[in-house]
Amino acid sequence: AQLLRQQAYIGGRWCDADSKATITVRNPHDGNILGTVPNLGAAETARAIEAADGALPAWRAKTGKERGAILRKWQQLIEAHADDLALLLTLEQGKPLAEARGELNYALSFVEWFAEEAKRVYGDVLPSPRGDQRMMAIRQPVGVVAAIIAWNFPSALVTRKVSPALAAGCTVVLKPSELTPFTALALAWLGEQAGIPPGVLNVVIGDPAPIGAELSGNTTVRKLTFTGSTQTGRLLMQQSAANIKKLSLELGGNAPFIVFEDADLDEAVQGLMASKFRNAGQTCVCANRVYVHGSVAQAFTDKLRAEIGKLKLGGGLEPGVTLGPLIDQRAVDKVSSLVEDARAKGAAVLAGGKLQAAGTLLYEPTLLTGVTDAMEIAHQEIFGPVVGISTFEDEAAVLARANDSESGLAAYFYTADLERVWRVMEGLEYGIVGVNTGAVSNEVGPFGGVKESGIGREGSKYGIEEFLEIKYVCLAGKTFNTAR
Ligand code: SIN
Repeated sequence: AQLLRQQAYIGGRWCDADSKATITVRNPHDGNILGTVPNLGAAETARAIEAADGALPAWRAKTGKERGAILRKWQQLIEAHADDLALLLTLEQGKPLAEARGELNYALSFVEWFAEEAKRVYGDVLPSPRGDQRMMAIRQPVGVVAAIIAWNFPSALVTRKVSPALAAGCTVVLKPSELTPFTALALAWLGEQAGIPPGVLNVVIGDPAPIGAELSGNTTVRKLTFTGSTQTGRLLMQQSAANIKKLSLELGGNAPFIVFEDADLDEAVQGLMASKFRNAGQTCVCANRVYVHGSVAQAFTDKLRAEIGKLKLGGGLEPGVTLGPLIDQRAVDKVSSLVEDARAKGAAVLAGGKLQAAGTLLYEPTLLTGVTDAMEIAHQEIFGPVVGISTFEDEAAVLARANDSESGLAAYFYTADLERVWRVMEGLEYGIVGVNTGAVSNEVGPFGGVKESGIGREGSKYGIEEFLEIKYVCLAGKTFNTAR
């Protein structure tokens, strides 16, 4: 019960909105009320920024090893409460319990990784162009960080941003989605128990517009990191222009998934199932456009249809369920309209294509064939459990189709031809490429996209760089050259 925090967390205090306004949080599966959270505005957000600024000097002054030790304690507490956190995550977000527990492991992997990286922030001694100078590059924390995250991975998105920021010596104001605030608040509470000092991690919740405007417009915030839609990312980027805030943006994807004629079809089907149906398709690296070589399209489709038939749709806490509800009615409307558009333009619906029952958010796993580039589904991020298959005949043509998108987050392809692996991998205009795999998310690989999918990389050895500035130091001294 202590994990269910129904207040915001600012400067080490749990607090309500000044106005006492609240937001009701519901279970997306049955609509039951889970609790309320305060609906904060710009004033409370500014106070959270002040708290983060106040806590910065002492946190920055700790050694990386000391900060890493606190992160490790946080990791241990998350691990100890992982089952309860998974339950909370399923209740507010909807994904099946086993998948929520998997997400907690994924979230933990970032805390573990950056607890270790905290003590590995190196600088360089540079070769000086002059004998009477010595030059260095040192890395220092950026300062106060604003982290705004989406609802689809309520634990992993927190730790993928907060752990490297804290490891680097930054302080954070975190804004989780008002649809899924409880996992983030529980993680913050565990952080408090782990000894993260007051003000180092703050959590604000409320209507996104005023909080987003304050976090991006406030010049004390030196870095904004955001996961969410490209549209909101663009707005935050504009609002962040006031002090040329450092930005990392993890935005929408439209991942192509290409199955060449020499692919292992069973593995390709498994890869697509893992990529497409994870989190009911509500993942920015989900396969979104499936291109299958004409010569294997029928065999691939038959195998895929059989696997889709094994999925069990239902509430995340029901035994055996592998596919949960979509997050809200807006998500259902978008998926329905994309499927309807494809159907109207000639796609065949081999499975699903509708809600399990009217009035729910349970969209059936759906298989469409005959998808063409004239259909909306070929261009928009579906964010739902829908596979649309297009066929192709020629490698160069399918590569051009795969790259014909404003997005550039993840891409996947299956082939047994080594030369093609290199050719296609190098030709794909994407930040992440899965070759003969549909599972690319882990703490070691740099996560992030090109084009309108964003800026920056998360996780991995590169992730901490986003929270560090390089300072170039040039030191002049007459005595440097005495040996010569
Ligand atoms: C996301 O959809 O933002 C995260 C997905 C992942 O980490 O795999």
